[in-house]
Amino acid sequence: MSMRGRASFALLPCLILLSRIPGFISSAIVTLDSIEIFNTHEWLTADPTVYFHCKRDHKTDLPDVKKANVLYSFKGEESWQPLTKLKKEKCKRCGFYEKDSIKSDDILDEWEFCPSYFTDSDGKYNHFKDKEFNATFSCPNCESLGSDSDHSSSAGGKGMHWALVIVISIAVSAVFILGLVAGYKYWQKRKREQDQARFLKLFEDDDDIEDELGIGPIGSVL
Ligand SMILES: *[C@@H]1O[C@H](CO)[C@@H](O)[C@H](O)[C@H]1NC(C)=O
Repeated sequence: MSMRGRASFALLPCLILLSRIPGFISSAIVTLDSIEIFNTHEWLTADPTVYFHCKRDHKTDLPDVKKANVLYSFKGEESWQPLTKLKKEKCKRCGFYEKDSIKSDDILDEWEFCPSYFTDSDGKYNHFKDKEFNATFSCPNCESLGSDSDHSSSAGGKGMHWALVIVISIAVSAVFILGLVAGYKYWQKRKREQDQARFLKLFEDDDDIEDELGIGPIGSVL
């Protein structure tokens, strides 16, 4: 393994540790758990196309939701999931809409979608709009997103500060130790080369003495 490879290998546990510390998780995934619509806005008998959309996000079509007064439940791993990502202490303006071929899309409801709504221990949050829909969302990581703001922010900040100090010291010591090991190996190699050179020089010196005395190497005498 190269020196750089080894260094990143040592930093990997630090990064894993970093991601485990609450407050370092910067975004959480939101999935749709279930939805029931009470009304379709299509004039004709055509099936409705309901979609979820947050401002500045992509639209998520709900391909299965076609009939009113049917509860559709999801696993969270459907091809169109997740619905959106929430960032720490930041709500999004989101809503359910129904595509309309003639006029602009119908708004079933539009509201502020906040990570702090997921207060349940199972990370679920229910949004009900009279005569329109009842939807349940799931976000298991939203609680840890909001934990910094729920508790006093100074305590949270301090905890994060200490975690950062620990992680950085581990990283610095890892690099320092790797540097020491590399330095020692280099020194060993240099020493071995010097020893070899000295050893060879010893023979050359012997040859010189033989030349000076006019004896010459044994081979030339014979
Ligand atoms: C909405 O759906 C959830 C889950 O299916 C259910 O627990 C809740 O009672 C429903 N709420 C209303 C107002 O229908």
